Amino acid sequence: MKIAVVGGGSTYTPELVDGFARLGSTVSELVLIDPAAERLEIVGAFAARIFQHYGHPGRVTWTSDLDAGVTDADAVVIQLRVGGQQARITDETFPLDCGCVGQETTGAGGLAKALRTVPVILDVASRIRARAKPGAWIVDFTNPVGIVTRALLDAGHKAVGLCNVAIGFQRRFAGYLGVDPSAVVLDHIGLNHLTWERAALVDGVDRLPGLLADHMSEISGEVDIPAPVIAMLGVVPSYYLSYFYRHDEHVRESRGEKTRGRRVAEIEATLLDMYRDVTLTEKPALLGERGGAYYSEAAVGLLASLFGLDDTSVHSVNIRNNGTLPFLPADAVIEVSARAGLDGPAPLPVTALPPDLTALITHTWGYEELALDAALRGGRDRVYRALLAHPLIGQHEQADALTDRLIAAGRAHLAWA
Ligand code: G6P
Ligand code: MN
Repeated sequence: MKIAVVGGGSTYTPELVDGFARLGSTVSELVLIDPAAERLEIVGAFAARIFQHYGHPGRVTWTSDLDAGVTDADAVVIQLRVGGQQARITDETFPLDCGCVGQETTGAGGLAKALRTVPVILDVASRIRARAKPGAWIVDFTNPVGIVTRALLDAGHKAVGLCNVAIGFQRRFAGYLGVDPSAVVLDHIGLNHLTWERAALVDGVDRLPGLLADHMSEISGEVDIPAPVIAMLGVVPSYYLSYFYRHDEHVRESRGEKTRGRRVAEIEATLLDMYRDVTLTEKPALLGERGGAYYSEAAVGLLASLFGLDDTSVHSVNIRNNGTLPFLPADAVIEVSARAGLDGPAPLPVTALPPDLTALITHTWGYEELALDAALRGGRDRVYRALLAHPLIGQHEQADALTDRLIAAGRAHLAWA
């Protein structure tokens, strides 16, 4: 089977390739697609060495021609970053002037990313649909995953959104409990980058209360949220909830600090130098400093299920709500634990959520609806309205100032601006 990776020239790609090399024995061809030809050459050659190192019989190829690359693919992973790290650094910086968190997927920065990304993704997806095998799945890692997946599904694509937050918790909890990761089934729920772990089932028994009792300080450190907050909620919020529960602290802490995007750009430069070394055949430890831990295993695991090879594993996916969260419309895209088969993912049942979670999810869903509308149709008013609706913004003065800054900073990537 042929898997195509759009954005395959990313320095992240060796993580994905490592997963396919170790676990994806049914892959006959992995084609990496990227417009950045020079970087693609380095990453592609390294990816081929990784396959060879693990004795994988499949071949790794690479091309800057999207149409050729996706032709006859059985599945396509999309992991692109419109505007590169430079645009990310801008997203992380401009909101701070208005007292708002600077983050690539949360708040005004996340909106800026959605606005420049959705049109590109929809173009890529229609080209995939024209040339990939009929029925080929699109697995989207491109952020903001919730909004992007919603755009893909609304346009009629066979898509599922994926994020590594849940698999990260699964692996960590399994480590604490001394069990195999596959034995841990998470009750993971929310919107992408706005999720909580409400249970961690091992053989049907919820081990989360014990984990909170025995490992609270580690968990609190990992998600950057004070232990009393987690204890009060009785569930484990993802790291991204720290931008909500500690918003003003994040703003204060980031003033004068190097943004994450700058740090990532440095890591990327070093990684590329390492990848140039033809004796390197395994992903270097430095890659672990990126946020994408286990994203390869999430992708390989989900694809195995979508190809009908594994109907028991549980994955965290971005899919249509369709009644799973009764307080959201059916067409909303939520992130939830699911099993998957040839017909796609099927969510595990979700019990009623408490009002604080329901409220924040609903509020953010409203923002995401307006964000997608702004991404599809453009215009200052739509951008403003999405910002005003965001739970971390909500005030006219800030929304107004952020709108001007967002459009000024992002103009190069916004066709309508
Ligand atoms: C996590 C998130 C991803 C995000 C990444 C950022 O893995 O789930 O959606 O892209 O962090 O990592 P970075 O190394 O780019 O800061
Ligand atoms: Mn993510």
